[in-house]
Amino acid sequence: MKIIIVNGPNLNLLGEREPEIYGSDTLDEINDWIKNHDICQNLDLEFFQSNSEGAIIDFLHSKRKEVNHLVINPGALTHYSYALRDAIAGTNMKAVEIHLSDIHNRENFRKISVIKSVCLAQVVGEGKQGYITAIKHILETK
Ligand code: DQA
Repeated sequence: MKIIIVNGPNLNLLGEREPEIYGSDTLDEINDWIKNHDICQNLDLEFFQSNSEGAIIDFLHSKRKEVNHLVINPGALTHYSYALRDAIAGTNMKAVEIHLSDIHNRENFRKISVIKSVCLAQVVGEGKQGYITAIKHILETK
């Protein structure tokens, strides 16, 4: 089974970006940790990060015939990108939204997700473990 794991804007700066909120692991370290996790051993994972909304949408379009499982941390796009929402819906991806931090206990603007309604589940506040929780949701609903 193939799952794509997408990280949006500013997540390339993990490790140095507000470590008190997002932790001290870099994105590469998190991706390696996910790859090596027991539950991922029989999965075909592909990782993608971009700071550009359009590049993420193009990536989802390019994968739509090949993959239909997605774990996505859309970063701030979560809170306003109807274009990303439509891309997830339009490509028929079975998606789980994940956030390292608990977006419901931060600034008010972070409480809103325009992505949530096109996802199977929303995982928040578990740090990098949240990616594994998201993968488990996909495995349970496949
Ligand atoms: C985030 C939460 C978003 O509000 C923020 O814009 C991010 C990271 C998280 O993983 O907690 O870039 O998605």
